[in-house]
Amino acid sequence: MKKIKRTKVKMKAPKKVFVCTECDAQSPKWYGVCPACGMWNTLVEETYSAPAPGRGGASRPSGVRSHAVPIDELAKEDCTRTVTGIMELDRVLGGGLVEGSVVLLAGEPGIGKSTLLMQLCGALGNEKKILYVSGEESRPQLKMRAQRLGTEGAKIMLLTETDLDTILNEYDRVQPEILIADSIQTIYSANAASAPGSITQVRECAGALMGRAKADGTSIIIVGHVNKEGGIAGPKVLEHMVDAVLYFEGDRTQPHRIVRAAKNRYGSTNEIGVFQMDDKGLTEVENPSAMLLLERPLNVSGSCAVCTMEGSRPIIAEIQALVTPTTFPAPRRTSNGIDYNRMCLLLAVLEKRLGLRFSACDVYLNVIGGLRIDDPGADAAVALALISSLRDIVIPPNLIAMGEIGLAGEFRTVTSAAQRVKEASRLGFTKIALPKRCINDSLTKTSDASLLSLSGIYDALMLLGDAKKTDSRSAYANAK
Ligand SMILES: Nc1ncnc2c1ncn2[C@@H]1O[C@H](COP(=O)(O)OP(=O)(O)OP(=O)(O)O)[C@@H](O)[C@H]1O
Ligand SMILES: [Mg+2]
Ligand SMILES: [Zn+2]
Repeated sequence: MKKIKRTKVKMKAPKKVFVCTECDAQSPKWYGVCPACGMWNTLVEETYSAPAPGRGGASRPSGVRSHAVPIDELAKEDCTRTVTGIMELDRVLGGGLVEGSVVLLAGEPGIGKSTLLMQLCGALGNEKKILYVSGEESRPQLKMRAQRLGTEGAKIMLLTETDLDTILNEYDRVQPEILIADSIQTIYSANAASAPGSITQVRECAGALMGRAKADGTSIIIVGHVNKEGGIAGPKVLEHMVDAVLYFEGDRTQPHRIVRAAKNRYGSTNEIGVFQMDDKGLTEVENPSAMLLLERPLNVSGSCAVCTMEGSRPIIAEIQALVTPTTFPAPRRTSNGIDYNRMCLLLAVLEKRLGLRFSACDVYLNVIGGLRIDDPGADAAVALALISSLRDIVIPPNLIAMGEIGLAGEFRTVTSAAQRVKEASRLGFTKIALPKRCINDSLTKTSDASLLSLSGIYDALMLLGDAKKTDSRSAYANAK
């Protein structure tokens, strides 16, 4: 009898590949450090799918060849902007939503991304054809939100779908002028084998949507989730692909929200939009300074008003410092809203130049209202708040200070001094301390407030009337 040869059919497991979220490099093995770019912990497991033929480079109909043209022969094409009517959003976008542009709106869960976009629909719905694709919420949920925000009257098309092909089909049928994709992490393409939200899927789906935007001149707004570190979940290339990246920031326990542009091909990245969240949705805050100073404590040490430039707009906020003696050899340092290293640098300058013993104290620093300040002009206020808390001296509520502090303890000029002084005066500050070189005749003439000149860090101490009490070892104390 003939022996039947039995062949074992082996199911082939899908091939795995490890992809770097920073540089997109692929490797068959997991490494702690990406072999291509050297970043730590950036490799994630993905299902391998062979690249589709003909990919790479911009896709175009075959037979059409593009050629280079001299720049002066190009027609002066100003980009067409749609003013959304939500002023704070327009400001961040650089004056409105540009036709054919792709905007990525990223933020933590529950911060208000869908709310902002639903309000955008309400503002533009009767003017533009909008297709709102939601992969996260059901129709009743979306309807309920629209009712709560009072935007249910807007003529927008809603699609609750996660499959890319279906979305593109509906897109072709509806032919919207604005497409909103909430969120890119929930959309998946059957062409890519990995799970929704994975690097391959996000790249594939964003690429497909963007192709449409560029071809049809549709504006696309993509919602992106953020990961634990606060970056946008998915491949780093996503940020390079889109025209603008907006971050929705804020403390969820606080009512204010800030929209900040991290990248904008059609405008400045310095502008911020300030909103306030309540049950009726987001309302624009036209006067953020007044709002941020609302709950300022009086007659308490460690609080100092700060004036920071956010793009073209001066914003006044409050900085609070708490300095307490510690028995631990390594004192605690916490900073919220001010760069941690900047705080350490200022503490070192105060310790060295004024002989103030911060090294024996825990230091907590906080900017009220969830504001994040990158402006070095805030140094003066940070230093004053720190000294005020350490010495327990109350800073007069009508005093505001601005100026960058150098390592030698010198005060350096700040940008847009005149604008800052104007805003400070408007909010009732009558004593404005600023670097010596910022004070000129025109500023003195136009300002009602008294301008106090700062040249060295010792002057900051003088402002608090604490000069006599400091350690005489201080270089500045000896020099004066
Ligand atoms: N009925 C309500 N009354 C008041 N505020 C509400 C109400 N429902 C929701 N909110 C506010 O709206 C926020 C949720 O906003 P939204 O759904 O726009 O966030 P999101 O950024 O889209 O979140 P996700 O990432 O989960 O999609 C809540 O955190 C809450 O502050
Ligand atoms: Mg949402
Ligand atoms: Zn890498």
